[in-house]
Amino acid sequence: MNSKIFVVGSLNMDLVCQVGSVPKVGETVLAKKFFTACGGKGANQAIACAKLGGNVSMIGAVGDDENGRQLIKNLQQNNVNCDNVSVCDESSGLAFITVANSNNTIIVAPNANFALKKDSVDRALKRAQSGDILIAQWESPIEIVRHAFELARQKSMTTILNPSPAVKEYSDMLSYVDICILNETETSILTGIQPDSEVQVALAIKKLYESGLKQAILTLGSEGSVVAVGQQITFVDCVKTKVVDTTAAGDTYTGGVAVKLASKCDLLTAAHFASKAASITVSRFGASKSIPYLSEVEV
Ligand code: RIB
Repeated sequence: MNSKIFVVGSLNMDLVCQVGSVPKVGETVLAKKFFTACGGKGANQAIACAKLGGNVSMIGAVGDDENGRQLIKNLQQNNVNCDNVSVCDESSGLAFITVANSNNTIIVAPNANFALKKDSVDRALKRAQSGDILIAQWESPIEIVRHAFELARQKSMTTILNPSPAVKEYSDMLSYVDICILNETETSILTGIQPDSEVQVALAIKKLYESGLKQAILTLGSEGSVVAVGQQITFVDCVKTKVVDTTAAGDTYTGGVAVKLASKCDLLTAAHFASKAASITVSRFGASKSIPYLSEVEV
């Protein structure tokens, strides 16, 4: 029987502009295309888990508005349990995304996400057992994320942190988590080291370990990813593909790792699977919609 997965995190409506280049200070550019899409790192990671075969519950907050209703509907349609997604007085979270030459920049307005309360976490984790998995990011109130990890520790759950958006001052949280999954920018913010060579990667991992962490995965875009378990560091290649939009690639990777850990695979096996799944996500536009199903990864 696979372990259950709980995701504490954000739900955002993404407002996406495809542009030729990101505007400089004082510059106005015209978008080539605009679309809205259901996103939010938490929701994307929950949907990745569900699409890839996991049993997953979302813990988060939306506003009592059309975006909030759509965000919940999208989760439910993807088989994510939403019993602990609360509806509050703020407007739903928004993300302003530019996609230029397949790379993105994101500004998040957390809104309702920051109204998430401890009760929602406590209620949801009542059902959690030893060996179940908790995932969180940093688009939710930091004290609630901390509380969730403390509770998860008490219950001997496996905890995964995707420290995004990265904030150096929150680094002490790394000592609460079993596995940290972070990209180049997040690594550089948290460690002060740009992971752009084998030596730099090893130094960044050493730095992360000094915060109390024992396992980490660095995702390095087209360079693949690096899995560190104690002193063992392994490079994992990514499947080469035509990249159109990197939004939710990291979320797919995180979900992929969680699903494989839930079925008792080791971290390296989980990373190979996650990397394959993320390579499909980047070949499509949008956030949760671009995440592949298990059948697409296991061909
Ligand atoms: O990781 C991608 C996500 O980051 C987007 O969907 C956006 O909502 C932001 O949370």
